[in-house]
Amino acid sequence: ILKFTAISTLLATTYLTYSVYTEFHPKKQIPQADKFANGAPKKTTIILGSGWGAVSLLKNLDTTLYNVIVISPRNYFLFTPFLPSTPVGTIDLKSIVEPVRSIARRSKGEVIYVEGEAVNIDPKNQTVSVKEISSLNDEDDEERIRKLDLKFDYLVVAVGSQPTTFGVPGVLEHGSFLKEISDARDIRLKILNNIEVANNLPKDDPLRAKLLKFVVVGGGPTGVEFAAELKDYVSEDLAAAMPEISKEIKLTLIEGAPNILNSFNKSLVEYAQDVFAKSRIELKLKTQVKEVTKDYILAKNGGGEIEEIPYGVLVWATGNAPRDVTKKLMTSLPEQQNSRRGLLINDKLQLLGAEGSIYAIGDCTFHPGLFPTAQVAHQEAVYLADVFTKLNKIDQLNWKVQGEKQHEMTSKNDIKPLTKNVQKLPSTIEDFKYNHLGALAYIGSEKAIADLSLGSSKYYSTGSFTFLFYKSAYLAMCLSFRNRILVALDWLKVSLLGRDSSI
Ligand code: FAD
Ligand code: NAI
Repeated sequence: ILKFTAISTLLATTYLTYSVYTEFHPKKQIPQADKFANGAPKKTTIILGSGWGAVSLLKNLDTTLYNVIVISPRNYFLFTPFLPSTPVGTIDLKSIVEPVRSIARRSKGEVIYVEGEAVNIDPKNQTVSVKEISSLNDEDDEERIRKLDLKFDYLVVAVGSQPTTFGVPGVLEHGSFLKEISDARDIRLKILNNIEVANNLPKDDPLRAKLLKFVVVGGGPTGVEFAAELKDYVSEDLAAAMPEISKEIKLTLIEGAPNILNSFNKSLVEYAQDVFAKSRIELKLKTQVKEVTKDYILAKNGGGEIEEIPYGVLVWATGNAPRDVTKKLMTSLPEQQNSRRGLLINDKLQLLGAEGSIYAIGDCTFHPGLFPTAQVAHQEAVYLADVFTKLNKIDQLNWKVQGEKQHEMTSKNDIKPLTKNVQKLPSTIEDFKYNHLGALAYIGSEKAIADLSLGSSKYYSTGSFTFLFYKSAYLAMCLSFRNRILVALDWLKVSLLGRDSSI
């Protein structure tokens, strides 16, 4: 036992030291260039986005093989699985972000980052138009908005998606989404503000009850995990700080389908609904929200009646829709006309209609059997990094063959560089195969559910032990050592001192 402990401690210490060292002492990068040492042209690969797909690609790509440019309006990566924990302070927002520049700095080849938004993609001329964010302070002043047109050999579209409202009126004006850092801040401010305002009102004032009614619309994993976190905050921290108010808070989750968490196994759904009922989270199932006004939500219930549901804070989590740049690209290619849900790609993740130069991964795409999850985006990125290594080999070989031919014909040394891309990938490059490992969701009161897949076998697990598994699995998935340490410290802080409920 002593030997085993000594060896494990040694291994753990070596791993920690190595992780810290490599994170803070990145190696010297190979600079970008027009040509490789052998004279073959070095191609430009532009990656759009800084989320799960883009950053996983950047981490796995051999950046010495291409001139890599990353374009994103967000100069950081956001670890979305922990986003529902942030509005109530279980995890600090700073703990789940990682600057793009430090990720880029750790790659072998030089990577250029442009803080901007791709506004148009021209597949024919292989250009992307970018609106630089740093000059966007005054949105109305068109003169001050800097625009760039960048040429690419290869483009990877990983711009994700935006929250959808399904056209329900009033959501944009009165609700909050839970997709970005700014959303989490907005929800936190609204909740804390409502609690303080309600506390100053007499107990019988109807406004007090309305302010303390928190409604979540959408019983997918986002809505469920946020409702669970909010309930934990109310029953643990608020109950200690403001016991009266905490008892008056009403938490409702509205879902259009007959049950929540539709993508999970039925037994897990029943367990989750049971935990919610015990936690006094009101579930309104088979209830479709039709309109949101300043004071109440209008929803059609299972019986077909329209209900008026007053609310103080509304969190809207009904899924994804394509972004504007994605919609524009879809309309520009005839091969994309049949899709409304996202970019159509083939089994090698090439964009239909622009197979030679554009690839698309993650939430901005639509492909049967691939879901809009971090797991899919990450696996697609790892696959694509490998494709790019093989593509470089093909490009080099083509250049050599063409170069030698030209050399024979002209006997000149100034060979015209080969810039044309391979349209159809050879069959030696296998199709992308998604390996679904399962899904996890936090459901509150230190309980989680797990729907796991191991080959063709399925495993279901629930409860407190599953919560520990959930925590360790997501901690291991954090992007950097820094994130892992910060999240672990946040959990420790909350277990010892509780959540911070100040603005
Ligand atoms: P994103 O990660 O959304 O990244 C898109 C990037 O593109 C962003 O950096 C964005 O700023 C950038 N961008 C946007 N517009 C432009 C533009 N015009 N030009 C250039 N860049 C642009 N999945 C799981 O598997 N497990 C989970 O536990 C989980 N939890 C989640 C919790 C929440 C609250 C949410 C909202 C989602 C969760 N998901 C989870 C889903 C997961 O986050 C997404 O599937 C994943 O982020 C998709 O990766 P992506 O790279 O396609 O998009
Ligand atoms: P979702 O699409 O999974 O769920 C949205 C829910 O809203 C659906 O159940 C739908 O029936 C409901 N809905 C839609 N319109 C409605 C209306 N008008 N009234 C009432 N209900 C309505 O969306 P979510 O939760 O944002 O997830 C998006 C993606 O991110 C999914 O692929 C999900 O798997 C993934 N994700 C995964 C997590 C995890 O694995 N733990 C956590 C969060 C998100």
